[in-house]
Amino acid sequence: MKHDKTISIERVAEEDVNALYALLQASGLSLDGLNAHLSTALVAKEGGQVVGSAAMEDYGASALLRSVAVAAPLRGTGLGHQLVEAAIGLARQQQTQRLYLLTETAADWFPRFGFAPIPRAAADPAVQVSVEFTTACPDSAQAMLLELRK
Ligand SMILES: CC(C)(COP(=O)(O)OP(=O)(O)OC[C@H]1O[C@@H](n2cnc3c(N)ncnc32)[C@H](O)[C@@H]1OP(=O)(O)O)[C@@H](O)C(=O)NCCC(=O)NCCS
Repeated sequence: MKHDKTISIERVAEEDVNALYALLQASGLSLDGLNAHLSTALVAKEGGQVVGSAAMEDYGASALLRSVAVAAPLRGTGLGHQLVEAAIGLARQQQTQRLYLLTETAADWFPRFGFAPIPRAAADPAVQVSVEFTTACPDSAQAMLLELRK
């Protein structure tokens, strides 16, 4: 379904953080540890409302993509795709070489961006100490990797 209203993707502003958290909760995603990485969190906004998100935790050469969510009425309109592409663009800007993620629900979706499944233990140790890896995501979550630069 095509969605015609104008949607912007931008870094989250302080006044939108609560709306971001509400979106993540409504989408069944963890908030744990996100407050330390709000400077690299993106939101999609439509008419002043937060309707999507994608956040990145920066660990130097590696980074962790997390909190990818789209408000239920807008799912299937391509917004999730735009958010992931925007987060990958941000990672490239920050010279990230390896972008990781953990997902319980979308392991079949992320390969279209170039992510490939990896054993969790194969992730960069710098990323393995993140809250997502240590406590927020259950052991069953699939780890995935997108190589941005060799
Ligand atoms: C996953 C999510 C962000 C996708 O956003 P979206 O805006 O609906 O995605 P898009 O419109 O860009 O893409 C739609 C396509 O992705 C596919 N897709 C969407 N979610 C998927 C999933 N969880 N697994 C596999 N494929 C999925 C759709 O079938 C559709 O496929 P098509 O292009 O072949 O028709 C959204 O469904 C969501 O917020 N889910 C709840 C939170 C979540 O699970 N986040 C991901 C874990 S970090």
